[in-house]
Amino acid sequence: MSVKVLFVCLGNICRSPTAEGVFQKLVTDAGLTKRIQIDSAGTASWHQGREPDPRTVAAAKRRNIDLSVLRARAVKTSDFNEFDYVLAMDKNNLSDLQQLKPADYAGHLGLFLAFGSQSEYLEVPDPYHGGSEGFELVLDLVEDAAAGLLASIQKNKFA
Ligand code: 4NP
Repeated sequence: MSVKVLFVCLGNICRSPTAEGVFQKLVTDAGLTKRIQIDSAGTASWHQGREPDPRTVAAAKRRNIDLSVLRARAVKTSDFNEFDYVLAMDKNNLSDLQQLKPADYAGHLGLFLAFGSQSEYLEVPDPYHGGSEGFELVLDLVEDAAAGLLASIQKNKFA
C-alpha cells in the first residue's frame, strides 16, 4: 500500500514547505518514494503560486535540502479525500483544518510535532516575523518530528 502525507501551516511558504522537503529527503534516502507521497499547503491562500520565503529556502539549503522548486497552495476540502495524514504545524492550523474536515474523514488529522521525540514544543513556532534563529528552530523541530513520523508509518502501515 502507499501512504499520502500533507503538511499544513498558515502561508505554505515557511514551515510546511520545510516539513515537505525534510520529510521528502528522509523518504528518498529510505528508498520509499513509491510508497510515501508528500505535499504541503496553507490554510491561507495569500502566497498561492509563490516560492517558499527566501529565508526558508536559505536555511534548508544549509542542510542540503532544496525547497526552491516548491510552490504555495491553499488547502482544500478534497485534500481529505486524498491524504492519509494531514499534519498541522500549530493549533490554529489544526482548528482551521478541523472546520474543513469532512465528518467521515478516516485518516489522521493532528499536530505534526506529536511525532517528535522532544516535549518542549507542541507547535512549530511561526518564524515569519522573527529573525534567522526562528528558521533554524523550525528545521530542528521538523527534522526530529519527520524521523518519528517515518518510523510510525513504517511500523503502523508497512509492518
Ligand atoms: P508559514 O509562515 O505559515 O510557516 O508559511 C507564514 C507565512 C506568511 C505569513 C505568516 C506566516 N504572512 O502573514 O504572510
